[in-house]
Amino acid sequence: MRAIPQTTVRSPIAITGTVLRVSTPVYENEDYEMNDRKASLLNKLVRAAAKDSSSIGLIAKRVMARVPVGPGYSPMQQVQLGILPRPEYAYTAICASETAVRLGYNEVTWIEFGVAGGAGLLTLEAIKASVEKALPIRVRIVGFDMGSGLPAPVDYRDLPHAWKRGFYEMDVPLLKSRLTSADLVIGPIADTLPIFVAKGSSDAPIGMISFDLDYYSSTAEAFKIFESSPDSILPRVFCNMDDVIGSGEVFSDFTGARLAIREFNALGDSCKLSPCYDFAQFAYERWQEKVMVYHDFRHPRYPDYVGDDAGGQLPI
Ligand SMILES: C[S@@+](CC[C@H](N)C(=O)[O-])C[C@H]1O[C@@H](n2cnc3c(N)ncnc32)[C@H](O)[C@@H]1O
Repeated sequence: MRAIPQTTVRSPIAITGTVLRVSTPVYENEDYEMNDRKASLLNKLVRAAAKDSSSIGLIAKRVMARVPVGPGYSPMQQVQLGILPRPEYAYTAICASETAVRLGYNEVTWIEFGVAGGAGLLTLEAIKASVEKALPIRVRIVGFDMGSGLPAPVDYRDLPHAWKRGFYEMDVPLLKSRLTSADLVIGPIADTLPIFVAKGSSDAPIGMISFDLDYYSSTAEAFKIFESSPDSILPRVFCNMDDVIGSGEVFSDFTGARLAIREFNALGDSCKLSPCYDFAQFAYERWQEKVMVYHDFRHPRYPDYVGDDAGGQLPI
C-alpha cells in the first residue's frame, strides 16, 4: 500500500456528487473557478432530479442520463441518475472507493460472496471501469463461490423451502473467459475464506462486500471476513445484503441472512452491521434496504476524519 499525497487527491465535488461533502479542491489549471461553478451546478441539477420521486423527477433523470456532459457524470451521479447497473452494488462500491481514497489508499478490494453465473461479478467489473476513471484508486475484485451451485441446506435456517442443493451452478470456464480482471475463488467458503483472511490484503484493503449466499449457514461463515486484520480492511465496509428482502422466499428475522446479521451483532459491542442511513440525496428505492455498513468501532482508523476540510461552519 502506498499512501496518496493529499495534493493528488481530486476534488470530491468532481468524484462524488453526494454522500460526502465537498472538500477543498486541489486544481492544477487556471480554469478551476469556472470548472468548480459548472460542477456545482451540475451537482445541484442531478441531486434535484435524484431526490424527486415524482414522474417529473423520473423523466428528468432519464433525460439527464442521455445528455452528454463535459467530462461525464461522476460514478455517484451515475447511480443517482440510474445509469450504472445494480445500484446496490454501485453505491457500496463507490462509497468504499471514496473512503479508501480519503484514508490515503490507492487500492481497494471489492468482494462478492456468491457468484453463481457471474452476472454480479461482471457488473462489478463495469463499475470498476467507471470508478477507476474518476478516482485515483485501483480496484481489486474477488468472487467466492462453490462453483457447483448451492450446497445442501444445513437446517430450516437455510430456508430449504425456498432453495435447493445445486441451484445456481457456475459455468466456470465460460465465466473465466468473460472476466477481465476479477479473481474467482472456487470452493466452499469454509475452506477458502480462512486462507484468504490469513493471507491478508493490506495492499488493497477490503471496502465493499456483496453477500449473496442465500443460506444462513453460508452467510454466517462469510462474516469471518470481518476477522481480517485492520490493515486488510477499512474501518467501515459498505455491504450489499442481497437476501434481506425478497419476493416469495418468506424471509424472517429468525432464518437466513437476517438471522446471521442479528447473531453477528449480538457477539459484542465493537463490530456491528447497521443499515445505511445516507440516502438523503436519493428518492427512496427498494435497493437501499439491502445496503448495510460494517462498522469496526475499535479499528485504529475508525476516527480518522474523511469529510470536508473546508466544512464545519454553518454561517447564517
Ligand atoms: C443466488 S447465487 C448468487 C447470485 C449472484 N450474486 C448474482 O448476482 O448473479 C448464490 C451462490 O452462493 C453460492 N454459495 C452458497 N453457499 C456457499 C458456500 N458455503 N460456499 C461457497 N459458495 C456458496 C452458491 O454456489 C450460489 O452460486
